[in-house]
Order: sequence, then C-alpha cells, then structure tokens
Amino acid sequence: MAIAIYPGSFDPITNGHIDIVRRAKKLFPKLYVAVVANPHKSLLFTIEERVEITKAALVEAGINGLEVISYNGLLIDCAKKHGADAIVRGLRANSDFEYEFQMALTNRDLASEFESVFFMTAKKFSFLSSSIVKEVCMYGGNVSTFVPQSVEIALQKKLRTKK
Ligand code: PNS
Repeated sequence: MAIAIYPGSFDPITNGHIDIVRRAKKLFPKLYVAVVANPHKSLLFTIEERVEITKAALVEAGINGLEVISYNGLLIDCAKKHGADAIVRGLRANSDFEYEFQMALTNRDLASEFESVFFMTAKKFSFLSSSIVKEVCMYGGNVSTFVPQSVEIALQKKLRTKK
C-alpha cells in the first residue's frame, strides 16, 4: 500500500485543503498531513496551534484515520522518516504551477524515490487560500464558507489577541 504525505503551512487549514485530504485519502489510505514548523514565511499561528487546529478541522469534517504530524527542516527527510512513497500537493490557479514545479523538481533532485502527486482543486476552492481567509477574518468578514467552524473560532480568538 502506497504511503503519502501532504505537507503545508496550514496557517490555517481551509476547506480547500480538506477537499484535497478527502480525495488523496481515497488513493492513499495511509496519508500523513504534515505541518511545517519552520516555513520561509511569517505565520499567524504557532506550530502547536496549527497542528491542533488541523486535527480538529479534520475531525469536524468527518475525516478520521490519518495522522497529523509536524516537521522541521527538509520535507524529504520527513517523508523518509515516515516511509512515504508520494508527496501530495494541491494545484489551484496557474500561478501555483511555477512554485510547485520548482518544489517538485528540487525534491526529486534531493530524493528521487518520492513521486510528487498533484490534485487539481475543486472549482469552488480555486481562489481560496489561507492568506485570503486571514485577511477577510481580520476585517470582520464572514469566513464560514471557507473554513470549518472550529477554524473560524480559532481565527477570531487569535486575531482578537493580536489587536
Ligand atoms: O503551504 P505551503 O507554505 O505552500 O507549503 C510549502 C512547504 C511547507 C510544503 C515547503 O515550503 C516545504 O516543504 N518546506 C520545507 C523545506 C524544504 O523541504 N524545502 C525544499 C523543497 S523546495
């Protein structure tokens, strides 16, 4: 049985990510959702919060039987540690392609044993991103169609403490 790892910042997880998890799990019954601890960008939530929020969101979405893990450093080292065969990523608009292509080829140079597998977004999530969700929530907008309720609550709490 092929094992896959779905990495990301998940700051926070959105309904778009959850859709990818749901679909990837059909092909890869053993799927890890891997939250990066040290991304190249500044984040709203700590690594502990992002792991907890991701776990709660998946439970709320009725997705069970997968592990949410965190990693530091290179993705391929985390993939090796967990015996993964494939790296799962979602693709939204064309603008994702350059970045994903670069990442997939870099990962292949570093470790050719992993196959990168891309899932096309569902049309309704094609312009959804964690950044947009944070911005809308920051200005008091309704994000209930973008994220599960547990994520919305975590966002509102976090943004209140930031004011
Ligand atoms: O959700 P994101 O921020 O687009 O996810 C990007 C992520 C975390 C998957 C990627 O930046 C990553 O794996 N970083 C860890 C460092 C690494 O392995 N870099 C080499 C691959 S380009």
